[in-house]
Amino acid sequence: MLERITRLSEEIADFQSADPAAIERFRIQVLGKKGAVNELFRAFKAVPKDQKKILGQRLNELRDKAREKLVTLQAALEAHAVDSPKIDDLTKPGIPVCLGSRHPISLVQNQIIRIFSRMGFGVAQGPEIEDDWHNFTALNLPAHHPARDMQDTFFIEKNPDRLLRTHTSSVQIRYMEQHEPPIRILAPGRVYRNETIAAHSHFQFHQVEGLYVDKGVSFADLKQTLQFFAKSLFGKSKIRLRPSYFPFTEPSAEVDVYWGLNSEADHRITKGTGWLEIMGCGMVDPNVLENTNIDPKTHSGFAFGMGIERIAMLRYQIDDIRLFFENDVRFLSQFASESQTPIPK
Ligand code: DAH
Repeated sequence: MLERITRLSEEIADFQSADPAAIERFRIQVLGKKGAVNELFRAFKAVPKDQKKILGQRLNELRDKAREKLVTLQAALEAHAVDSPKIDDLTKPGIPVCLGSRHPISLVQNQIIRIFSRMGFGVAQGPEIEDDWHNFTALNLPAHHPARDMQDTFFIEKNPDRLLRTHTSSVQIRYMEQHEPPIRILAPGRVYRNETIAAHSHFQFHQVEGLYVDKGVSFADLKQTLQFFAKSLFGKSKIRLRPSYFPFTEPSAEVDVYWGLNSEADHRITKGTGWLEIMGCGMVDPNVLENTNIDPKTHSGFAFGMGIERIAMLRYQIDDIRLFFENDVRFLSQFASESQTPIPK
């Protein structure tokens, strides 16, 4: 009997198969009701008493070994099945890969960055929680200046003031404080104003700020830069600069692009004029340069700032700003992923 146990034990150890049918046959032959192990247990009954202890032990070991082997074989089989699913028809169409989509604000922001990067502008960032100096004072808006009322501010703390930045112009100051000219940066980001939420206004939105400071930067450079931008983003090459006022620029202007009056929608969005306002701009005020230790006698610069929501609404014909912040997938999934968006010419 001992011999049979030993032989069977070797057979069990040697058995290898990745075929489910062969493994099942092995199970029946070894562990089945009429299998080899049970047969040995039946024969065990007739074993003389003095051998029972040792043979009983060996038999139990044999049964455990057979069970373990079976578990190992079956586990290997399952792992294999997961690795290589059965391909029943190679001509079937594949499972489509879902690319997802990007938020329209990110899409437009990246397009703007790409256009300006072709003219050598890099990207700079600043904090959304600002102090009075960077958001107002250094930008030529001293305390009690009436222009502060133009932007309803969310204050976090008073004296010293901590507030949510009302525009990305604060990044101009931070950048100029830490870098020497030539400076050519774009600062995209979120800004906050205490405004009622409605179809065309929100308490949070996004802006892109631009700043160029060097020796001999002129108003003509500003106009040319913005013209290239309008042509690249909208495909419209006619722009005009209307005199305006911003405390941080002198002279200041409002930029309009000529949108045309070809459709009913054109009439509606341009209020019948054909012109559309897209941003504010101007030559950096000498006081602002001085506030950041840049000498206005040797250096000059231009700056501009635009709202991203406004541009996205024009581009995608969206008539309600609230859609950008609701994160409704039915809205968001309409926008292509970045790789599918053609790079503007
Ligand atoms: N900061 C202005 C705003 O939020 C936008 C702006 C206008 C930025 C003119 C500029 C500029 O840099 O030159 O309305």
